[in-house]
Amino acid sequence: MNDARQHDDANERGSAQNHGAAVGLTADKITIRGGIPLVGRIEVKGAKNLVTKAMVAALLGETPSVLKDVPNISDVRIVRGLLEVHGVKVTEGAEPGDLILDPVDVESAHFAAIDAHAGSSRIPILFCGPLLHRLGEAFIPDLGGCRIGDRPIDFHLEVLRKFGAVVEKQPNGIRMSAPNGLKGAKLELPYPSVGATEQVLLTAVRADGITELKGAAIEPEIMDLINILQKMGAIITVDTDRVIRIEGVDRLMGYNHRALFDRNEAASWAAAALATDGDIFVGGARQPEMITFLNVFRKVGGAFDICDDGIRFYHPGGDLKPVIIETDVHPGFMTDWQQPLVIALTKAHGTSIVHETVYEQRFGFVDALVEMGATIQIHKECLGGHPCRFGQRNFNHSAVITGPTKLHGADIVVPDLRGGFSHLIAALSAEGTSTVSNVGIISRGYENFIGKLRLLGADFDLEG
Ligand code: EPZ
Repeated sequence: MNDARQHDDANERGSAQNHGAAVGLTADKITIRGGIPLVGRIEVKGAKNLVTKAMVAALLGETPSVLKDVPNISDVRIVRGLLEVHGVKVTEGAEPGDLILDPVDVESAHFAAIDAHAGSSRIPILFCGPLLHRLGEAFIPDLGGCRIGDRPIDFHLEVLRKFGAVVEKQPNGIRMSAPNGLKGAKLELPYPSVGATEQVLLTAVRADGITELKGAAIEPEIMDLINILQKMGAIITVDTDRVIRIEGVDRLMGYNHRALFDRNEAASWAAAALATDGDIFVGGARQPEMITFLNVFRKVGGAFDICDDGIRFYHPGGDLKPVIIETDVHPGFMTDWQQPLVIALTKAHGTSIVHETVYEQRFGFVDALVEMGATIQIHKECLGGHPCRFGQRNFNHSAVITGPTKLHGADIVVPDLRGGFSHLIAALSAEGTSTVSNVGIISRGYENFIGKLRLLGADFDLEG
């Protein structure tokens, strides 16, 4: 193993532990004795992929904002740190999970301070619009985030330039300014990127004039961000066919908002219930944002009950059935759902296909599953559905899963957030004992997952 790889591994271990430590998880490794069905009730809070953007939106207000149902996850800690180095006061509110974000004293931050906080997140890129409006300048360090593809920011830089921002690439990041202010623009995204759509929303709401965005992302998290911006005083119209119109306004005020629930966490626990022959009630989960997931869950052979305060997910018995899944932008099957659900597909009677069309390298988690006894082959072709952007481009983006196979215990290392949760499920459903390392990464998006595993009757020890 070459020095660079050892260096990367050491870095990853370091950042995994930092993620864990940020939310009180000191352990780096978990030893799981598998084969026990997970049974019980857990609660999910606000969505990581909305809460982190809602915190950035508070920068646009002239008065404090209150965000409710904020999960204690390390991605929230990272954004909080970035807001504080820019002079935002962040305090806990009256209720657990309430955050008060006071942007009155926003100020420029030294790039080193920003860099220290940015490390492993993609969120800093979304600070651009609000900081350009508030300060006339912004600095973005090199971005992090899960290694599930190249993850360029070309769409972000393109739209910011169209608003009138001056973008200067520098050795340690990107510096931006808006000498003539920011003006509304006619924009079209080549792909409905969630991040680039959020970039346009957070910039256009206070830009001079009207912005029309074609090819926009319409994920539930985008809609909830639009709810928040409208509460602040913005004028935003969502048309059919992915067109969003924003009329810039001069002033925005703080919001008071309860965050949309985390449908990615809910889907992950549902996948855990199915793969462990379990029965989990996910408090806070709602049907409208999970319709596509629920359809596939039922097709595989899972069962669910929709209740006022959540959704019960369980294995009703009988053999699981193979399916063909093609990930896509909303309302398609979400890319963040495929990794956790693959474990149940290893137990299905027949051949399943997962065609990953959102990220070009999201099967890094599969090697460990094959080591545990799964039969999974990765292909460069677009299998099981429609040709996608990655076809003919040499990316391993389709998986063929042949079941049923019995997983057995092994020593595995968490590669990224959703891959990490998938590895937990694999160890929980396997015969024998597994050790899962780098578990701190899972703290980036799953609040108190250790406590929830205890609640659901899992048998494990923490180490490190
Ligand atoms: C958000 O990432 C989520 N992250 C991701 O969840 C989620 O998988 C993704 O949206 C898709 O739903 C957060 O919200 C923090 P994109 P984002 O811009 O905004 C390409 C998780 O596990 N692209 O919609 O980064 C890009 O490379 C994470 O919670 C460009 O080419 O996703 C990708 O192939 C993982 N140029 C595709 O678009 C750009 O400038 C979708 O990316 C921007 C994106």
